Amino acid sequence: MALSDFLADLDALAAEAEAAFASAADGETLEEARVKFLGAKSGRLKEVQKGIASVDKADKPAAGKRFNEVKTLIGDAYDAARVKWEQSTKTAGTAAAFDVSVPGARPRLGRLHPITQTIAELTDIMGRLGFTVTEGPEVEDLWHNFEALNIPLEHPARDPLDNFYLAAAGAASGKRLLRSQTSTVQIRAMERMKPPLRIISLGRVYRPDTADATHYPMFHQIEGLLIDRHVTMADLKSVLRLFARSYFEDDVHIRFRPSFFPFTEPSVEVDMSWHDKWIEMGGAGMVDPNVLESVGYDPDEVTGFAFGLGIERVCARRHAVTDIREFYKNDVRFLHQF
Ligand code: FA5
Repeated sequence: MALSDFLADLDALAAEAEAAFASAADGETLEEARVKFLGAKSGRLKEVQKGIASVDKADKPAAGKRFNEVKTLIGDAYDAARVKWEQSTKTAGTAAAFDVSVPGARPRLGRLHPITQTIAELTDIMGRLGFTVTEGPEVEDLWHNFEALNIPLEHPARDPLDNFYLAAAGAASGKRLLRSQTSTVQIRAMERMKPPLRIISLGRVYRPDTADATHYPMFHQIEGLLIDRHVTMADLKSVLRLFARSYFEDDVHIRFRPSFFPFTEPSVEVDMSWHDKWIEMGGAGMVDPNVLESVGYDPDEVTGFAFGLGIERVCARRHAVTDIREFYKNDVRFLHQF
């Protein structure tokens, strides 16, 4: 074979291959073209290569050199066509999958339960008034839930119908109960610490109340206790007023109504007026001397005030929730608003 014929075959092949690669409309056609021209077994380039064998010996180096050049040329043409095709599909694919005008899907974040949030807020407010948090158990004994709180054995507050006593065998029967008020923690704090004292306790309490818009068998209370020399009802009122103003972020009025609790004397119901509506928030009073004595304090030396407010009630009032049962339905549409 004459060298010129061989070179002409090579050039024709290069032109044909370049045209085929450039015009391939999709990945499949491009791949077919690759196999056709560059295929290792029976590709056209391989075919043409065989021509070298019949070229004059003296022309072989020139034939081989040109062959390698054309091989690279065709290879490059294929690579270029492939890159071009890949880029075009990438752009097209992205355009279909990502529409910048579609609003993003916001991941749903969990959040703290409104009562948990309220507890944190109340703790913060009382902390600024110098009260530190202390805790007591939810399963209580009769001493802390009743006796030390000046609630004698025959007192109706001990009625099994008003308390969740824990079932226990024999002598232990009726000896423990789910605490019905956080006032139990007053006793525990005073037993542990010497006056002066300025504590709060926030937590769950339990009563066999029928659930309605303002009652639930499990609810939360915030208890406050301040013991010092010369403490008066005026101090109690100021603290509650400051507390209410901070929590409701508004000018809240406080009203005391005479009431009775065995562990305070005098005792009051605490009402708060917010947005021209009075709500009963809890009970309060001056710590009864009998209680001070039961924990070994000297009533002639120190006096103090205590209060206990319903956390569901204050939280519901602030957020205009009309039924406290909403807090315990676990409906995320409700809970998500807080
Ligand atoms: C007491 O529990 C007293 N320990 C409060 C106290 C503390 C008085 C310190 C004096 C000194 P009372 O039973 O009224 O008081 O309950 C206080 C508040 O808890 C109520 O005003 C109300 O806001 C809330 N509460 C009572 N029962 C329920 C209930 N079933 N569900 C939701 N909140 C309740």
